Amino acid sequence: MFSEKLISTLRGAEHITVFTGAGISAESGVPTFRGDDGLWKKFKPEELANFDAFIRNPKLVWEWYRYRKQVLANVKPNAGHYALADMEQLHKNVVVITQNIDNLHQRAGSTKVYELHGNINRNYCIDCGLSITDEVMSWLGRAPLCPSCHGLIRPDVVWFGELLPVDQWNKSIAVAEAADVFFSVGTSAVVYPAASLPTIAKNAGAYLLEINTERTDLSWHADEILLGKSGDILPRLLQSYQSVVHQ
Ligand code: OAD
Repeated sequence: MFSEKLISTLRGAEHITVFTGAGISAESGVPTFRGDDGLWKKFKPEELANFDAFIRNPKLVWEWYRYRKQVLANVKPNAGHYALADMEQLHKNVVVITQNIDNLHQRAGSTKVYELHGNINRNYCIDCGLSITDEVMSWLGRAPLCPSCHGLIRPDVVWFGELLPVDQWNKSIAVAEAADVFFSVGTSAVVYPAASLPTIAKNAGAYLLEINTERTDLSWHADEILLGKSGDILPRLLQSYQSVVHQ
């Protein structure tokens, strides 16, 4: 199922970089954004995922994020997340760049994870910047306020129209450019600038592997496409990789 070229490139790879999107968490029960069952079919991003909407109606935006926090508190990493964490044990230079805010890579054991769109477990004050955990946030049926300056607290996630965290973005470009093999897993690859990373990697010489249940805008650029669920494919790829590194 895996080409000889992929296995031999993995075998000789110094740097393996993995770019993930909502699809890798789908088998954990986390909804994706696009497609027939996607979140953006039921909810409007312009009302829930941008700063102006938050200022207009912080309570509504917080209802949506509290709901998502609850969903994520009740899910677990799946075989795809664990395979990537295990790959890091076998190869010292495996880095995951994720667009997901769900913390599932870290929960599976990956230690080198760059988060391009933030993390739903973190929050901060829009006035004084204070970081604040869910446990100490006071809701009282409305949007939470900063215990220090009474400013509005927001989730530490990137909304439409906002810049990506500069350090995470710069590190992501560096590991995309350094990659010998670059995996694009479970992402529709349509949200920029994150979606430019696979082609940045390819233009810098990486072997570009796409893993997705369907073809995407990126497929045209990929050196190899593995169609199927990442929770099936990644563990099998790990097995093949294990057998070549132990040869
Ligand atoms: P999308 O919902 O756009 O795409 C999910 C992709 O995963 C699709 O291409 C599916 O075909 C694929 N997929 C679904 N189940 C899969 C599985 N089990 N195995 C492999 N692939 C599977 O999600 P993203 O590409 O992550 O941004 O979306 C990018 C950004 O758009 C998100 O980070 C979010 C959203 O708006 C912000 O909120 C800023």
